[in-house]
Amino acid sequence: MDLRLFLNALQERGELATVTRPVDVRGEMAGVIDALGARPVLFAAVPGSEYRVAANLVARREAIALGLGVAVDDLPSRLVAALQRPRTPSLAATAPCQEAVEPEVNLARLPILSHGPRDAGPYVTAGVAAIVDSDSGPNLAFHRLLQLDERRFAVRLVEGRGTHTAWSKAADDLPIAICLGVPLQVLLAAAMSPPPGHDEMRIAEALAPTPLARCQTVPLLVPAESEIVLEGRLTHELADEGPFIDLTETYDIVRRQPILEVQRITHRREPIYQALLPGGPEHKLLMGMPREPSIYDAVAEVCRVRRVHITPGGTSWLHAVVQISKQHPDDGRRAIEAAFRGHGSLKHVVVIDDDVDPFDAARVEWALATRVQAGRDVLVFADQPGSSLDPSAVHAPGHKAQTAKMGIDATIPWDTPTGPADPAKYQRVSYRAVDLADYLA
Ligand SMILES: Cc1cc2nc3c(=O)[nH]c(=O)nc-3n(C[C@H](O)[C@H](O)[C@H](O)COP(=O)(O)O)c2cc1C
Repeated sequence: MDLRLFLNALQERGELATVTRPVDVRGEMAGVIDALGARPVLFAAVPGSEYRVAANLVARREAIALGLGVAVDDLPSRLVAALQRPRTPSLAATAPCQEAVEPEVNLARLPILSHGPRDAGPYVTAGVAAIVDSDSGPNLAFHRLLQLDERRFAVRLVEGRGTHTAWSKAADDLPIAICLGVPLQVLLAAAMSPPPGHDEMRIAEALAPTPLARCQTVPLLVPAESEIVLEGRLTHELADEGPFIDLTETYDIVRRQPILEVQRITHRREPIYQALLPGGPEHKLLMGMPREPSIYDAVAEVCRVRRVHITPGGTSWLHAVVQISKQHPDDGRRAIEAAFRGHGSLKHVVVIDDDVDPFDAARVEWALATRVQAGRDVLVFADQPGSSLDPSAVHAPGHKAQTAKMGIDATIPWDTPTGPADPAKYQRVSYRAVDLADYLA
């Protein structure tokens, strides 16, 4: 579903907030988006720009389900199916994203937000970068972009991921297209990290039809229904990138990162720029949720997995709860090891039985309290490659962050030092169900 149809759907349900008074993109707009929590918003008037701004579009699972036309509970299986059975998109007959061409490249015409007090400058945060890797083919990924001047950005490339790999081996500049205001299924697919050679555009197509358009100045295909496309080249010149707020809601470090030179800007008529609050609920959901199917797949190889939740308290990236139907005494331990394989940035994982709701933090803690003995059920893995986002990891320039990882098996034990465990003593007791209306006046 493209951005406009999605905004209409949100409006029809009374969920879209519309701000008609002018809002400054320097600090003020980020404050309004933050104050709205997870509520989607359209800013109709931006001083100094002809673009409108949409934000908080997919800050809740329910919004993603609405956009994909599925029930919330069916989201995980929908994502797993798209990962497993990608489809080739078609070429669009017409390209809405090329309805207009900016007469000259001047990034100052875009409503690029400055977010926090110590930010290095205005940042594009919802840009999906399309590139082609000379070996593995097309790749889509989000990259935050620090605006340096009227034509250039510094681009954050996480080391070892798709864009970084392609850029590192390119002898010349790497053609790149930054797509803004992309269809919902593209937002989701770009946040996924399938193995190299698996084009995220094909995953998007498996979620919903995603016609493509040929860029005008670079040999790349982009979602035709994008609101804005910035065509350009990722050079080997470097600039300071940061400080900037990351998923952890803490400031990320300053790094030397490649410079992107924009050479053409195309857009839809009356374009809508998409903003995404760094560290906000939308950032968290988009980072974490698409990793749930990867963990699910990995755990499914070793035991009977039911549900996976990447929890918001763990910055939606570093923590997961994995629910299994335990069939073997070692299933908890196997699930822990598999979960770490399924999501390389995962730092702590809790494995629970299928009588505990992985989305209810108090219940998960209850399982920790009543089913865990630390000496038996806690696995610690020292000196592991970890997340670049974790301030507590060991960071060295050019190297993967180093971290310790911990998995807790909070499933009912099958064996204890004194013999087989009695499952009955671990069951939560329920009271008789009553209808309160029969009792209260
Ligand atoms: C909102 C958002 C912002 C992101 N920002 C960046 C970023 O600045 N740099 C980066 O390398 N990855 C960023 N990512 C993560 C990439 O999109 C993600 O790692 C992607 O899955 C990479 O896929 P790939 O390994 O196929 O390239 C971001 C993800 C989201 C959802």
